[in-house]
Amino acid sequence: MDAFLVTGPSRLSGTVRAAGAKNAALPAMAAALLTDEPLVLEDAPDLADVKTMRTLLAGMGVSPRGSGATGLVLDASRVTSTEAPYDLVRTMRASILVLGPLLARFGEARVSLPGGCAIGVRPVDLHIMAMEALGARVAVEKGYIHAYVSRVGSRHGRLSGARIAFPTVTVTGTENVLLAAALAEGRTTIENAAREPEVADLARLLAAMGASVQGAGTSTITIEGIERLHGTRGVPHAILPDRIETGTYLAAGAITGGDVTVTNARPADLGSFLGALTAAGVDVSRGDGWVRAAAPEPLRATDVETAPHPGFPTDLQAQFLAMMTQARGTSRIVETIFENRFLHAGELVRLGADVRVEGRMATVHGPSRLQGAPVTASDLRASAALVLAGLAAEGPTRVRRIYHLDRGYAAMDHKLRSLGAAVERIPG
Ligand code: EPU
Repeated sequence: MDAFLVTGPSRLSGTVRAAGAKNAALPAMAAALLTDEPLVLEDAPDLADVKTMRTLLAGMGVSPRGSGATGLVLDASRVTSTEAPYDLVRTMRASILVLGPLLARFGEARVSLPGGCAIGVRPVDLHIMAMEALGARVAVEKGYIHAYVSRVGSRHGRLSGARIAFPTVTVTGTENVLLAAALAEGRTTIENAAREPEVADLARLLAAMGASVQGAGTSTITIEGIERLHGTRGVPHAILPDRIETGTYLAAGAITGGDVTVTNARPADLGSFLGALTAAGVDVSRGDGWVRAAAPEPLRATDVETAPHPGFPTDLQAQFLAMMTQARGTSRIVETIFENRFLHAGELVRLGADVRVEGRMATVHGPSRLQGAPVTASDLRASAALVLAGLAAEGPTRVRRIYHLDRGYAAMDHKLRSLGAAVERIPG
């Protein structure tokens, strides 16, 4: 199990390129199951979660080839299994994204229940509710979701379009419906749909495959199902840039009083986060495909509350909280999406931060003089927050269990070093 050894303090400056977004790549890969023609995805990031999705698809008979800028090719012309096994799903909840496409194209799917994870219980009831609304029969047996569409003679049945109103905004739930409804019979309307840019990116891919999708990026999405979708046919689908990775490097610059520019960025996707950086006194500038954050010293305390897009992203909450340990005053950070996403707080306190968590709110008093110490990562974004704190701390910080980080950040050690940080990947 690798660790990161971060030796601070350092002041980051320079330019890094954001990779393709993990949370756009995963649904795009699941979309390959919808067609018997190859799908070519450009800029799928080199991450553990993307590898897990490759393994999951390979187990179904899809043969993933290639990667990165040259394109990841997924060919689902010979699918031999419609099962997502526990061993893979337990390592990556986003495996649930195969449920919709398998049901839509093959009329059946067996997907392991993901179970809990570090940031909360994270049920999949809304995914199941939505598939039932589209006409699937769903039974949960022996830890698996078994879903099927009743057969019509010798053929498997087809899902039927429906109106689906989500009681809670769910990102992968919305994506699962998009994927399923694209091959369903008739029109599907999703109300209270997630407005995340990754949802809009999936809609763009589905449209390129021949689907008719209206309203992606708003809270009402309409999909007219068709019988057959095609592949990307010579025009590879470029995965949109990772806004969370972008935000993480901007926060890394800011926590060190530095000046960081991220290219291959879409600042428009980061409105709330950039607004919070500005409120914290950071000088944010942006242009077509880039964003820059130059930090003052010290930062100003700033309150944030996470919310579905276009609100402040929960996936940047931990990094912002780490940043606020270096801000003057009291910041209140409220987490409204997940019930248990403050595991980084206790570890930050080990580095000398003054953070108190009560229910869904963390209160941070700053600035604190952080001192390097061994800390343990609990989930992907918490790990990033600990690395950021390590950059600002005096002396060595060993961040253990960096495999969490590898799920969502490609070559973070290299990228941080290119900005002037002292970060090494070490065993243990
Ligand atoms: N929820 C339910 N029932 C469901 C589905 C969701 O109660 O069936 C609840 C969740 O427990 C949570 C809320 O709804 O309280 C929102 O969860 P959502 O379904 O939107 O989360 P997700 O789709 O499982 C995606 C990202 C997460 C990100 C969240 C919120 C992917 C692959 N994952 O998860 O990304 O935090 O949306 O924006 O897109 C990460 O990248 O670090 C990460 C965790």
